[in-house]
Amino acid sequence: MIPERVVLVGFMGSGKSRVGRELASRLGWRHVDLDREIESREGVTIAEYFARHGEQAFRALETRITPEFTGDPRLVVSTGGGWVTNPGVFESLPPATLSVYLRVSRDEVLRRVARGSGRATRPLLSTPDPAATVDDLLKAREPLYRRADMSIDTDRRSPWEVAEEIYRAMMSENVPTDLNERGA
Ligand code: S3P
Repeated sequence: MIPERVVLVGFMGSGKSRVGRELASRLGWRHVDLDREIESREGVTIAEYFARHGEQAFRALETRITPEFTGDPRLVVSTGGGWVTNPGVFESLPPATLSVYLRVSRDEVLRRVARGSGRATRPLLSTPDPAATVDDLLKAREPLYRRADMSIDTDRRSPWEVAEEIYRAMMSENVPTDLNERGA
């Protein structure tokens, strides 16, 4: 069965946004980036939203807007890195949704996002010791990311290559066959 939509999960810097854009364009599907949707809806950046309302309010908002998109077919959704921490989000995905975990190592995260502008736009990494923060968050979240149907390594690979691997898996129907049973 070829999935009707794809949901990308993974840590900050795993490439969810760029892979999502690339995969959607290859499939001729729509791409939605939940963080960008929140920013345009709220009229603030994610960092500003965190500063004003806090993480808990952000989590409530991302949980609330998810079903507004995930019901649509022919859609690739890029989630934020902490989306998986919202209870019940995987179960809320409709049947025929392929969830894909984009794996990234701690060192690659630090290379890609924990410095400069990448860090400035990611409030959770604005700590005195980003490396320790990444370690702690990755450890806590890994079991949640692993709930996805498929997982793909992204270290030292371009978003293009990662999107290609997902695309090929979908086209070869080399995807989990129990996509209809989610939440059953
Ligand atoms: C977060 C990741 C960010 C954004 C917010 C919180 C997280 O998304 O949703 O800053 O908790 O890991 P990206 O993974 O796209 O950076």
